[in-house]
Amino acid sequence: MNVETLVSERYAEGAKAVQEALCCPVDYDTSLLKMLPTEIIERDYGCGDPSRYVREGDVVLDLGSGGGKICYMAAQIVGEQGAVIGVDMTDDMLELARSYQDEMASKLGSDRVDFRKGYIQDLALDVSALEQWLAQNPVKDLAGMQALEQWKQRQRADSPLVEDDSVSLVVSNCVLNLVAQNDRAQMLREVFRVLKPGGRVAISDIVCDEPVPQHLQDDAQLWSGCISGAFQEKEFVQAFLDAGFVGVAYDKWESEPWQVVEGIEFRSVTLVATKPSRQDLYDGGDAVLYRGPFSKVEDDLGNVYCRGDRTAVSRRTFELLTSGDYQEHFVGMSPAEEINNGCFCKPAGTLRPAAETKGASHAGGNDSGGCC
Ligand SMILES: C[S@@+](CC[C@H](N)C(=O)[O-])C[C@H]1O[C@@H](n2cnc3c(N)ncnc32)[C@H](O)[C@@H]1O
Repeated sequence: MNVETLVSERYAEGAKAVQEALCCPVDYDTSLLKMLPTEIIERDYGCGDPSRYVREGDVVLDLGSGGGKICYMAAQIVGEQGAVIGVDMTDDMLELARSYQDEMASKLGSDRVDFRKGYIQDLALDVSALEQWLAQNPVKDLAGMQALEQWKQRQRADSPLVEDDSVSLVVSNCVLNLVAQNDRAQMLREVFRVLKPGGRVAISDIVCDEPVPQHLQDDAQLWSGCISGAFQEKEFVQAFLDAGFVGVAYDKWESEPWQVVEGIEFRSVTLVATKPSRQDLYDGGDAVLYRGPFSKVEDDLGNVYCRGDRTAVSRRTFELLTSGDYQEHFVGMSPAEEINNGCFCKPAGTLRPAAETKGASHAGGNDSGGCC
C-alpha cells in the first residue's frame, strides 16, 4: 500500500468518528473556536495553532486541511478582503469540512473558504478534475497511460489547483510528516511556487530529536499516527532552506515531548519562513543596525551583521530585515532623499557612514522620530 492510501484510510476513519490516539493537546485561541461547530472542534488532529500567524487580508492556504478547523479560524481573521483555501486528499475529511461551509459563511458574513481536493506535494494537480476525466477515459493500456500523463500536464499548466504566486500565507497543522520521504522536496518546491514573493509559511508539525530507524518508519500505525514520519529537527529547517526560503526559524518549541518511542522524543513545533522578494538587488543607500544581544549574527546568504554597526544592504535585504520576524532585531536606516546607486555590489559586511543615512526615516525600530 502506498503512503497516501495508508494515510487517507486512517484519516477517513478520523473524519467519521473521533480517534483519540491521533489527538495531540493544543492550546488554541479559544475566541476563534466559539464560532466553530463542535464536530469540527472534536475531529481535530492538529499539533499546533498556525492560525496565530494569519493577518487581516491574507490569502491563506492550509495544507492538509482535514475537518477545516484551521481554515474556519483563519477565515475570521482574514476578513472580507481575504480568502482561505484548504487542500486535502481524503474525501471524508473534505466532506466533513464542506458540510459546515454554508453555516460558516452565514456566520462569517461571506463565503471566503474553499476546500479543494489535492495532494500537497502536487498543488497544481486538480484531483477532482482528474477523477472526472478518468471516469470518462478509463486507462486500459499504454496509450491510455500516455493520454493520462498528457492530460495531467495540460491541466497543471492551464488551470492549476493553486496558482503560482497567489498565496500570502501557507499554514499546515500536523501534515507534512505524513508525506512520503521521496515527495518532500517537491512538496516544499510547490509551497514556494504558490507563495507570493514576500509570502510567509507557518507550519505546526512534529519533529524528532534523532533520526527514526527504518523499522519504525515501516510501522503503518506509527507513520499514519504522525510519529515515525517526523522530520528530524535539523532536517526540518534545512528542507525549507533548500527550497529557497529565508528567515527560517522555530517560533514555537514544545519542551515536553508528545511521544517517546525507543528513546526518540517526538515533539510539536511551529516553523516560520519567508519566500524572498524578487526585487532587484539595487543600492538605495540603506543600512541596518543589528541591535544585539549577540556580538554578531549571520543570515542565510552568509552576510554578517555586527552589533551596533550601520551595515550597508541592498533595498531587497533592507525590506526583508525590517519586516516580519527580523524586524525586532534590526534598526533600518534610509537616506532622507530616495536614491538609486544602481546594482548593489558592495562586499558583505561593508559599513555605511552615518553621514549617508543621517536625518533619514528609521524603520523597524521602536524609536520612531528619534535618532540612534
Ligand atoms: C493529522 S490530520 C490533520 C488535519 C488538520 N490539519 C487538523 O489540524 O485537524 C492530516 C490530514 O492531512 C491530510 N493529508 C495527509 N497527507 C496528505 C497529502 N499528501 N496531500 C493532501 N492531504 C494530505 C489527511 O487526509 C488528513 O486530513
